Amino acid sequence: MYLTPEEEKIFNGERGATYQKAIRILAALGDIYDADRLIPIRSAQIAGVSYKTIGDAGLEWISDLKGTVAVPSILNPAGMDRECWKEMGISQDFADKQERIIQAYRALGVEIECTCTPYHIFDNLAGFGDHVAWSESSAISYANSVIGARTNREGGPSALSAALIGKTANYGFHLAENRRPDVLIRVEAELHGSDYGVLGYIAGEMVGDRVPFFELVSKPSKDELKSLGAAMAASGAVALYHVQGITPESGKYEAPKEKITIEEKEIKEVYSSGEPDLVAFGCPHTSPDELEELASLLDGRKVKKEVWICTSRQIKEKHPELIERIERSGAKVFCDTCMVVSPASERFTCMMVNSGKAHKYVPNLCGVKSIMATTEDCIRAALGE
Ligand code: F3S
Repeated sequence: MYLTPEEEKIFNGERGATYQKAIRILAALGDIYDADRLIPIRSAQIAGVSYKTIGDAGLEWISDLKGTVAVPSILNPAGMDRECWKEMGISQDFADKQERIIQAYRALGVEIECTCTPYHIFDNLAGFGDHVAWSESSAISYANSVIGARTNREGGPSALSAALIGKTANYGFHLAENRRPDVLIRVEAELHGSDYGVLGYIAGEMVGDRVPFFELVSKPSKDELKSLGAAMAASGAVALYHVQGITPESGKYEAPKEKITIEEKEIKEVYSSGEPDLVAFGCPHTSPDELEELASLLDGRKVKKEVWICTSRQIKEKHPELIERIERSGAKVFCDTCMVVSPASERFTCMMVNSGKAHKYVPNLCGVKSIMATTEDCIRAALGE
């Protein structure tokens, strides 16, 4: 991969070990994937934040870095709510190490907002056609598909490297030719809410890392697209999808020849019922509209089960009236974290979720049985009805 004279200097260590390490990671990726050069990015979203997932080795790696990010950069969810961690049942030792990880990122100039839905709170991170380096799989999918920005599936270290250099290697989804759809998915069902997470759960397994092009009967909202993309990135490795007439690049393409049909019966089969000891919402982190929906369903009622709603701190702070309505029911709103990346969910035996992504990850990453249900059924279970 070609490096400019300035990039060569960084590569040779003239700006110090951190920048050298960062550009070498980018150059290695560029060489592996045949990139021609580095291209400027508008923002970075950095995974590898929860102490549960990166452990002591990750903490040490980040703490050793010295420098400042070159573009707006924000963090993925951490392993705990930074204020209510005791209420989550997090140990002091975990909390101390988690806080050290966050402070190490802060020292590098990263914005300390730990969320997988940065697009709900910042509008300067990604626009149509912008190149970015994001690393949480649902955020990647949203950036590529719903915003029309361009990112590969970055890992934590490569997103941080891109943040420090302000550039990423030009390959994969940064190139127009790789954004064409490969397979048509025709959905013969009216979908609503969590059905989109179920659709993603089914479709991801079918298409792996290819680019699906959906023909839908119903018209999804942005939150529903968020659920669809998150689930497909978890059950498969889908980083980009198009929805005919809805997503911003869909009009450029004809429907692909290879066709899969998904019927209502297949969507319904993923749902089940049972007796959860935790009902969790907010995978990906909830938007204000989703909080409003949950508040309406909980108004004037009392939950009989442990209920968690995960969102970003800024959204919680901007909507105190919604949070109050929700918390009056006994449900808890946690920020900075989620039911998957926090070890706090591991003490439960059965979690009910309205998210296709959580449904895929909870059994493997938390060792907890998962039940997929609609938002309304999750609330009914939480109320003990
Ligand atoms: Fe976000 Fe955690 Fe789900 S990071 S997408 S809420 S697994």
